Amino acid sequence: MPQLIVVMRNGEEKTITGEAGLSVMEVIRDAGIDEILALCGGCCSCATCHVHVDPEFADKLPKISLDENDLLDSSADRDATSRLSCQIPFTDALDGLKVRIAAED
Ligand code: FES
Repeated sequence: MPQLIVVMRNGEEKTITGEAGLSVMEVIRDAGIDEILALCGGCCSCATCHVHVDPEFADKLPKISLDENDLLDSSADRDATSRLSCQIPFTDALDGLKVRIAAED
């Protein structure tokens, strides 16, 4: 199974594995990491699954949708690496992906 590296808000790194086909949010949540709230359950309406993605993987991610873009605008911690983790399908091509959990809004 592909591996995902999650950088917690305190800087601690956790390496977890996830089933391809789940979203990155689901992989993080299923690993018991509770810094991602994912309040809307993954339907792109809450922005509580905000992460910063390692720029090395930027080319491998699906394009950001208008809805995702608008939601991210509501976050004070938004930068060029920001994505909503529920909008990123986890695949074998993303093996080794590193994401940092965004600051709480
Ligand atoms: S879980 Fe709500 S926008 Fe991702």
